[in-house]
Amino acid sequence: NNVPGIDADCGGACACATCHVYVDAAWLGKTGEKTAMEESMLDFAEGVEPNSRLSCQIKVSDALDGLVVRLPESQH
Ligand code: FES
Repeated sequence: NNVPGIDADCGGACACATCHVYVDAAWLGKTGEKTAMEESMLDFAEGVEPNSRLSCQIKVSDALDGLVVRLPESQH
């Protein structure tokens, strides 16, 4: 969606970690759980925190309208 800082080089295949985001604490309960594959790919991302997600792996629904995420410093 041409969001600056979210390159998403692999096109959402959970194979690049260039879509790394930090999910705002208020939204963590609504974004679902990380899969083992996502956890493995996050090992290649910089500045991983407990609220880190690969944004391509968050299943979008109406319940996520207004979702707040922040970018790691390395992606600014
Ligand atoms: S777009 Fe490549 S892991 Fe998300």
